Amino acid sequence: MGGIVEWTDSLLTGIDEIDQQHQTLFTCLERLEKTVSFEERWSAVHFALDEVENFTRIHFVVEEALLRLHAYPLLAAHILEHRLFISKLEKLKEQSLRADVSDNLVKLLKDWLINHIGKTDSHYVTHLRTAPVAAVTLP
Ligand SMILES: [Fe+2]
Ligand SMILES: [Fe+2]
Repeated sequence: MGGIVEWTDSLLTGIDEIDQQHQTLFTCLERLEKTVSFEERWSAVHFALDEVENFTRIHFVVEEALLRLHAYPLLAAHILEHRLFISKLEKLKEQSLRADVSDNLVKLLKDWLINHIGKTDSHYVTHLRTAPVAAVTLP
């Protein structure tokens, strides 16, 4: 309780697999928040950041594959947002080897996630529900 990282059901997309992954991302962020606020050793913070990054990568791959499958028209812009977040995470992970990661940085990650899930991800929900799976052309 009381942490800055909290899942809210208003972020649900109604697509089960995506919702489960989004919730897991929040769980990873909560762990990161705890290591930072309890001032655990830099290695614990680095490990928690690594976990956030790894799971984020998995989620982005799944989400992008799903959007590709449904020929989502805003896919390129969506992928770009994902890439920018990954590079933010990479930079932070590198910094965590040299300096302490602050509560503020965890808050930035959380704000990005809430904004991305609540706005950018929510845009594809109607499309996935209405657009048929695009024809797959085999080589
Ligand atoms: Fe997402
Ligand atoms: Fe996304």
